[in-house]
Amino acid sequence: METNRGEWSSKFGFILAAAGSAIGLGNIWRFPYVVGQNGGAAFVLLYLFFVIIIGLPYMFAEMALGRSTQRNPVGAIEALKPRSPWKLAGYLGLLTAFGILSFYGVIAGWTFGYIFKMLSGKTGGFAGFISDPLLVTFLFALFLAITALIVHGGVARGIERWSKILMPMLFVILLGLVIYAVTLKGAAAGLTFYLKPDLTKITGSTMLAALGQAFFSLSLGMGLMITYGSYVSKKMNMVTSGFSIALFDTVIAIMAGLVIFPALFAMGKSPSAGPTLVFVVLPELFSMMPGGLVVGAFFFLLLSIAALTSTISLLEVPVAYLADERKISRKTTVWAVAFVTFLVGLPSALSQGASGFFTDFGLLPERLASADFLSHVSFLFGDLSLALGAFLISVFVGWVWGARLAADEIQSGSPGFARFRKIWIFMIRFFIPAVIFVILLNLFGIFG
Ligand code: PHE
Repeated sequence: METNRGEWSSKFGFILAAAGSAIGLGNIWRFPYVVGQNGGAAFVLLYLFFVIIIGLPYMFAEMALGRSTQRNPVGAIEALKPRSPWKLAGYLGLLTAFGILSFYGVIAGWTFGYIFKMLSGKTGGFAGFISDPLLVTFLFALFLAITALIVHGGVARGIERWSKILMPMLFVILLGLVIYAVTLKGAAAGLTFYLKPDLTKITGSTMLAALGQAFFSLSLGMGLMITYGSYVSKKMNMVTSGFSIALFDTVIAIMAGLVIFPALFAMGKSPSAGPTLVFVVLPELFSMMPGGLVVGAFFFLLLSIAALTSTISLLEVPVAYLADERKISRKTTVWAVAFVTFLVGLPSALSQGASGFFTDFGLLPERLASADFLSHVSFLFGDLSLALGAFLISVFVGWVWGARLAADEIQSGSPGFARFRKIWIFMIRFFIPAVIFVILLNLFGIFG
C-alpha cells in the first residue's frame, strides 16, 4: 500500500493486497457461523450464487471507479459528479469501515489471544476467556495498535512479502484440517448439513445474510476496492485479477466450512451458536489431534495475520480519505481513527458476557439469532450497510458516471472483456441494483 498516489508494483502485488483484504476472519470465523445460523447448505448455495453473479461483476465497478479517478471513495465520486449528494455513498463507505473495524478488531483480538492460549495447553474455557473484560479490551486495543502501527509506518510492503509465504501456509494447514475433520466419526451428518441443500430454509433474512456475507467476504460495498483500485496501473488486467481474488476468497471460506461442520456434528454441538462457534469448535478439534496444540497455536497465528491484512485495509479507507481530502497528516489520522474505533468497539468487546447489558442487547430480535451487541453491529455494518452501499455505488456507476465509460475503464488492460461488455452493462445498470433493492425491501417486510 502506497502512502502517496503510487501504483502497485505488479499485478501480483495488487492481487496479494486485495486478496489479503478479502481473506480474513470473514472466511474462517464469520462464514461458518452465518451458515450455521441460516440453515446450512441452501445458504451456501445462495452465497456462491451471489459471489458469482453479483459480487464479481460489482467488484469490477468499484475497481474501475478507483482506477479511473485515482481517488478514495468520497473523492472518486466527487471527481465524477462534483457537489452532488452522491458523495453520501462515499461517506457511508467510510462509516461502514469504522463500523466493521469496531467489531472485527474484537474478534481479531481473540484470535491473537488464542495463539497463547493454545501454547499454554488450555483449549477449553472460551466462555471465561471472552467474558473477561480486561483481557478482551486489552487484546482488542493491542490488535488495533498493531494495525495502526503498520498503516502508519507504511511497512505494508513487508506484510506483502510475508503474505506470499504465510497465506499459502494457511491454505495448507486448512487442507490438513479438512482431511482430519471429514474423517472423524460422525462427520457425515455435518457434511449433509453443509452440502445438501434444503431450499425451504431460504427466507428474506437468509437472502440478505447471504448477500451481505458475499460482500463482506470480498471486501465490497464500502469503497475498499475503490481505494485499492486507485493504485492500479492502466495496463493491468482487472478482470483476471478480480477472478483470482474471488476464487481464493471463496475456496478458503468453503474449506473453513469443511473443517467446522464435520467436526461440529462429530462433537454433537449445535451449528447455530453464533459468533463464538469457531472458537469453541476449533480448539476442541486441536485438543483431539496428536500435536494439536502446536498446530492450533500456528493456525491462530496464521489467522491473526490474515485478519491483520484485513484490518489494515479497513483502517486504510478512512485514513486515505482524511489524508487526501482533508489534508490532515497521515500520522495524526491513523491514530485518531484507531482510537475512535476503539471507543466505538468497546460495547462489542464487552458483549460476550462481560457486560450483561451488551450481552443481552436484543434490539433486533427477529433479524438476529444472537442477542449480543456484536451480532447487531455485524448485521448493521457487515450486511445491511454493505448492501446499501453496493446498491448506491452500482446505480452511480451504471447511471450517473455511465456504464459505458466504466466498461471502457475495465476494458483497458483487459481486452478480453469486450466479449462480456454488453452483459456487464446490463448487470450493473439493472440486474445488480434490482436484486439488492428487492432483498432490502424484503428485509423490511414490504412483501408481508
Ligand atoms: N473481507 C474481510 C474478511 O473477510 C473483511 C473486510 C470487509 C475487509 C470489508 C475490508 C472491507 O475478513
